Amino acid sequence: MKINSLNIYNFRNIKNTSLEFHSKINCFYGNNASGKTNLLEAIYYSTHLKSFKDIKISKLINIESDVFALLMKTYSADNDRECVNEIKLKYSKSAKSLKANCNHQKIEKVSSIVRQYPILFLYPELIKLIDLGPSQRRKFLDFGVFHVEHSDNYSVLIKKLNYIVKNRNTLLKKKSKTNEFDYWNEVFIDVCGEINRVRLRYIEILSKVFGEISKSLQLSDNIILEYYPGWNIKGGSFEEQLYQNHKRDLINGYSSIGSHRADLRIKDDSNAIDQTYSRGQKKMFLLCLMFSHLKLLENKSPILIIDDVRSELDKKNIKIIFDLIKNKFNNSQIFITDVDESVVSEIEEGDYSMFHVEHGKIIKKL
Ligand SMILES: Nc1ncnc2c1ncn2[C@@H]1O[C@H](COP(=O)(O)OP(=O)(O)OP(=O)(O)O)[C@@H](O)[C@H]1O
Ligand SMILES: [Mg+2]
Repeated sequence: MKINSLNIYNFRNIKNTSLEFHSKINCFYGNNASGKTNLLEAIYYSTHLKSFKDIKISKLINIESDVFALLMKTYSADNDRECVNEIKLKYSKSAKSLKANCNHQKIEKVSSIVRQYPILFLYPELIKLIDLGPSQRRKFLDFGVFHVEHSDNYSVLIKKLNYIVKNRNTLLKKKSKTNEFDYWNEVFIDVCGEINRVRLRYIEILSKVFGEISKSLQLSDNIILEYYPGWNIKGGSFEEQLYQNHKRDLINGYSSIGSHRADLRIKDDSNAIDQTYSRGQKKMFLLCLMFSHLKLLENKSPILIIDDVRSELDKKNIKIIFDLIKNKFNNSQIFITDVDESVVSEIEEGDYSMFHVEHGKIIKKL
């Protein structure tokens, strides 16, 4: 799916704007605080009905207004004439209500929209994907599994897992008797086994693509993706470990192992890169992950968004990134921002539209 146009009304500092996008690359340039990230957030919000940073909806309305509205038109990647979806969102702060329609029908299930728009969004703060705990990385892993594997089944499994963990933790906190865990342990073992199988299948294909892309990005040969299922892979079956950990879990009051604790780590040989790699190196690895997902989702025409595309990168790496986009991802629609218009010198003429962003106003330049 490609995004054809977006009308934005009172979203953050963008008061009123109508934009038509290029099917390949869209560059937005402007000074700090002009509204570039806000625009990208509006694109993401229109397809996910939530902010990419999990910001509360009330913060997204322009501070002087009561209502924001977004109208997005999208078309299929191989037919740029026919509008496939017209997504219309309207949020009123005073009424505390979000009206969300797709093709004039109320959106009942957000996942039915999200599934159609796999968006890879690289923003500067995402560096925490490497630096912080596993929850962000798990989200990223689940994003890939959701879009590449059978999405509906996987969402159901994850909901089931969260429900089971919540109930088990309640019993653990109450220090319930062992037999009261029988039912929850049984379903917990089943669901973790199932989620692990789907994740493993996905990791196998992701690792292959990651290896290929890391070569194109000229990254270290030793870089690997290491999957941790949520329990010790060398310590016997999950079932055995669950019972071995029971006493400790009772003391702590939560389930210390299971698919809800899974992780996907990027390592150089067997060393974590969080404390040794530079910011530029980390950004290149994140880009490698993003491009790998982009490749895997090729037949769904994924969208790539890179906020502040050149920050942290030297000239050589910037060239590598743009060469890769040109040679391998010619069919993806890409949105990038930068503080300077010279960013378009990296792109072939005719392959892009350029927009200037200033004080929340967005003007198409080319
Ligand atoms: N709800 C809101 N109403 C009005 N203005 C807002 C709202 N939320 C954020 N802003 C303002 O929008 C401005 C632009 O923010 P944005 O993050 O898009 O800038 P940017 O162009 O990405 O800058 P940078 O280059 O520094 O990343 C900020 O000054 C911010 O205060
Ligand atoms: Mg920004």
